[in-house]
Amino acid sequence: MCAEIAQKIQTTMNNHEQWRWKCLNLIPSENLTSLQVRAMLGSDFGHRYAWDEPWYGGQKYTIEIEGFAVAAAKKLFGADYANVRPLSGHLSLMSAIMGLCQPNDTIVISHSENGGYPLNLQARFPLDVQYLPYQPDRYQMDVSRAVELINRVNPRLVILGASIFLHPHPVKELSRVTKETGAILVYDGSHVLGLIAGGQFQNPFQEGAQILLGSTHKTLFGPQGGIILVKDDPELAEQIDLTLRPNPVLVDNYHHHRVAALAIALAELIAFGKEYAKQVVENAQVLARNLAVKDIPVVGTNWGFTSSHQVLLQTNSLKQGIKVRDQLEKADIIADAGVRLGAQEVTRRGMKAGEMQEIAEFFARLLVKKEPPERIKQNVHALVQQFQTIHYCFDS
Ligand SMILES: Cc1ncc(COP(=O)(O)O)c(C=O)c1O
Repeated sequence: MCAEIAQKIQTTMNNHEQWRWKCLNLIPSENLTSLQVRAMLGSDFGHRYAWDEPWYGGQKYTIEIEGFAVAAAKKLFGADYANVRPLSGHLSLMSAIMGLCQPNDTIVISHSENGGYPLNLQARFPLDVQYLPYQPDRYQMDVSRAVELINRVNPRLVILGASIFLHPHPVKELSRVTKETGAILVYDGSHVLGLIAGGQFQNPFQEGAQILLGSTHKTLFGPQGGIILVKDDPELAEQIDLTLRPNPVLVDNYHHHRVAALAIALAELIAFGKEYAKQVVENAQVLARNLAVKDIPVVGTNWGFTSSHQVLLQTNSLKQGIKVRDQLEKADIIADAGVRLGAQEVTRRGMKAGEMQEIAEFFARLLVKKEPPERIKQNVHALVQQFQTIHYCFDS
């Protein structure tokens, strides 16, 4: 009985892997890891405990691995301090908030209506949450009103970041006012860390952010997890650290196999990040332009569609987004109900501008010409079949 269940689980996993490998994945928050990263995830590090206090034996290599990851992260992002222990991007954000705020402090974030990450803080924490003002077109911040808001509410934290992340944030402009009011400027780069690492997106530290944090598995093609980076300010780093080290608040025993996998992914980015990130942004731009030309409504016609990995389709409602997502999935094109599309995973498979044009044509056949999805699915498989290896890594 138990063996049968184990067999079923194995079969389900095989089915999933075989299917997803044949699909065209355009989810903007996912990516593919290299074989070397996967080997770390399946390694003995996944069975072990290690901690800063001299409590557990058997730690000598686990400690060394964390050192590699921290050193690589600092080098890649130009940070003075790096913590690779958060188990997810969300927990890296929560560590910063819990480490730096007192009850009833004010924090300023972007609302999910404007593409912000839907943090539901008020429900659990006594914090005053204020929202950054945006232009009527929803995804462009209204900088002068944002400056006015920060001056008026005097927040402890200003968090810049978004789940719909098409263009850079006004970090420079807002850092001038946060410096004056004493607010801490946090940049949630969950979506764009891989692009920042490759020098293809704004550099939040150079523009005045004090903290850069986020997920390690979106454009940063590591294992699922989180990272926190701090520039210049050891006190800030120390306060955040307290949520993740002895007497921890948010993470007690962190995951050494994940940290080892992240160390490899960071090394891959040091070696190939520039080339990768450039291709991701180029692919997203080509995809957006070609979709628009083929009468697929893409957000941002007046402002160049995208400077990141994301392309956003214009939909009127979640219901319509779900319908589009489901229609795409019938042709083995995987997206979310946003409908956000991400170019990072197809780039990692080696696709370039020509393939983006082909993908846009699949969308047009499916959504404009209403061709049967089954027919397009065959073409999707034929395209994907040509891209069987993972690029921008040391696997070969
Ligand atoms: C801007 C932003 N921050 C944080 C998160 C949470 O990241 P994770 O899924 O790694 O917890 C997300 C999730 O997609 C996000 O879009």
